[in-house]
Amino acid sequence: MKRITAPVISNRSLMPETYLLEVDAPPIAAEARPGQFCMVHCGEGYFLRRPLSIHRAADGLAFWLRVVGRGSAALAGLHPGDKVDIIGPLGNGYSVRPGARSLLLVAGGMGAAPLAFLARKALREERSVTLVIGGRTRTQIYPVEMLPAGLHVVVVTEDGSQGEKGLLTDFLPGLVRNADQIFSCGPVAMYRAMRQIVVDRPVQVSMEAWMGCGMGACYACTTLTRQGPKQVCRDGPVFDIQDILWDEI
Ligand code: FES
Repeated sequence: MKRITAPVISNRSLMPETYLLEVDAPPIAAEARPGQFCMVHCGEGYFLRRPLSIHRAADGLAFWLRVVGRGSAALAGLHPGDKVDIIGPLGNGYSVRPGARSLLLVAGGMGAAPLAFLARKALREERSVTLVIGGRTRTQIYPVEMLPAGLHVVVVTEDGSQGEKGLLTDFLPGLVRNADQIFSCGPVAMYRAMRQIVVDRPVQVSMEAWMGCGMGACYACTTLTRQGPKQVCRDGPVFDIQDILWDEI
């Protein structure tokens, strides 16, 4: 884990209210694994940092950023050459079994950001990878043209404006059959549904939580697991789907 002041390489809006922020941070990029995140300072006048999932860690460190408040709006306003204070990589990241040849990645909305990083790594390791991305409408779907070649992509929108029409979870029963391991990033409601559908495959989910410190000190991100309370920032954000006490969180 490193703390560095990194220059912004680029910052572009590719979807409504969503930005691809790329910074020059070789020491963090060199260590980063799919599923890990960084705590990013929003600039002068802001106390708390924002947790951002790592989207790419080659030729720069990239994050997808959704504007949800003043802090993320400040980050969205960064320009090339501006400096940003970053701590990372943090958290455990996804863990792919050596023998897993066929991976299914399940992304709800912005969940495609860390899963695209995992897909790139798994394809380099010559695994077969399917990414299913779901959203309410096409403006919530990660730009498919930016995904790596060789990846099998399934898009599902609730209004049918892109890809298949319906809920992402409607399509899971058919997709899980060939998967040795499943990795997901999305809302808790999606994880609850997946838990009912995928009963005979290992599933790792990335939990979202409000974070203060990002390093296990403030306990703001506590979630409940079969092993007791755990910190999403330090013990996660990736957990086995069977370990979370879904009825108590
Ligand atoms: Fe402080 Fe996790 S954010 S303990």
